[in-house]
Amino acid sequence: MSLTTEQRYKPYAEWTEEEIRKIKENAASSPWHTNFHIEPPYGLLNDPNGFSFFKGKWQLFYQYFPFGAAHGLKSWVQTESTDLVHFEETGTILTPNTPLDSHGMYSGSAMQFGDKLFIFYTGNVRDENWMRQTYQNGVLLDSDGNWEKVPQTLITQPEDVTAHFRDPQIFFHEGEYYTIIGAQDIQKKGIVKLYKAQNSDYHNWTFVGDLDFQNDKTSYMIECPNLVFVDKQPVLLYCPQGMAKNVLPYDNIYPNMYKIADRFDTENAVLINPSDIQNLDYGFEAYATQAFNAPDGRALSVSWLGLPEVAYPTDKFDYQGVLSLVKELKIKDGKLYQYPVEAITSLRKDQGAPFANQTKTNNVYELELTIAADTQAEFILFADENGRGFKILMDTEKGQITIDRSEAGEQYALEFGQTRSCEIEPGSLTANIFIDRSVFEIFINKGEKVFSGRVFPHENQHGIMIKQGDISGTYYELDYGRKTN
Ligand code: FRU
Repeated sequence: MSLTTEQRYKPYAEWTEEEIRKIKENAASSPWHTNFHIEPPYGLLNDPNGFSFFKGKWQLFYQYFPFGAAHGLKSWVQTESTDLVHFEETGTILTPNTPLDSHGMYSGSAMQFGDKLFIFYTGNVRDENWMRQTYQNGVLLDSDGNWEKVPQTLITQPEDVTAHFRDPQIFFHEGEYYTIIGAQDIQKKGIVKLYKAQNSDYHNWTFVGDLDFQNDKTSYMIECPNLVFVDKQPVLLYCPQGMAKNVLPYDNIYPNMYKIADRFDTENAVLINPSDIQNLDYGFEAYATQAFNAPDGRALSVSWLGLPEVAYPTDKFDYQGVLSLVKELKIKDGKLYQYPVEAITSLRKDQGAPFANQTKTNNVYELELTIAADTQAEFILFADENGRGFKILMDTEKGQITIDRSEAGEQYALEFGQTRSCEIEPGSLTANIFIDRSVFEIFINKGEKVFSGRVFPHENQHGIMIKQGDISGTYYELDYGRKTN
């Protein structure tokens, strides 16, 4: 069911119990619900928000529209975890309820101040002519789930940007609090603005400058910028919408990119000696990645496995969107590595079994594989009895990895292609592959290259079929422990 603008922005209280019951029932009947990935029981999930540590627990919120698979009036749904693998919804939902966020609480970040979690988000407002206005606002949340909005807006839209000004990320660096915000300048180019808190007070921000990261300035908007420090090196993760493909090719509707720099000059808003721009993920959908430096110094990230303006096979079940696993960021030999946190191995049910053909898995497993040098490995996951499924090709002689979902279940987003590939140094490699009913996350060489995305298998697609090549490894059935589906 597609919703009209009026339905998408209707106050939550005007949805009737009967309407909500139908949506819930429809969503519950989907065969594709995940087992160990965060997804909404019904409605649409998009960006991860407010990823932080507060009062002994990891906090991870998500952007949410409850009443079907549509982008409408957005809220923040809270989930918590003690191990970064098992997340539970707390029941707390931060909703738009002021004139400063009347058309949605858009994305942002969070950080503990005193005994409260300070949430920095974008208030999306439309006036009577449907003209957009944006405000960077705050919420204070306590550990019992009580929350109140900071009454005044904290950063107003500067004159040199359009109303596309959003997604504040607060971070702490060398004794000071900073915020970066994604924007479209009045020449309609994507930029990032840097602010600094006066006297460490989140009420009081001064503009430092437009962040200089040798921005190619070919995008029309930068969404969800994040600056984190990995072994003291600044890493900027961002979504430059409409970026020119001659700067760096990408296949998805919108890219999620990064740059690694040597140093952050806070006074002049400069990332010193930034690397070339890189794709964060080579799969079909990883977007709006949010990263932060945990109190223990680790840089942690999580992505939305979904893309704006893409219709998904789950839409007919009135839900859409899933978050990736939480990944830790590292830099080795100048390259960014992204790999799930150590506790992910706690999902393994037992010691595992040798990687081999299987006719019926439950599509909830991890493969830990080694692909020998000079081989053309080919295997199919979500395979039916005829070997139709999700094809993975790893050519370690040429140094190329390709994934192909053209025979994996229900097709969608066809205009962006059904295959993805990336180059890698020739030679043997490892692959850790996490499969969760309708999600795959593939980590090459423990995170040197990552492919993430969705497949929506047909009912008979639950096998593993090895076609060729020198591949060995282990199959681990996974079990989240608390979810029943
Ligand atoms: C990215 C994004 C953000 C915005 C949010 C709204 O997917 O467009 O820029 O804050 O989603 O839901």
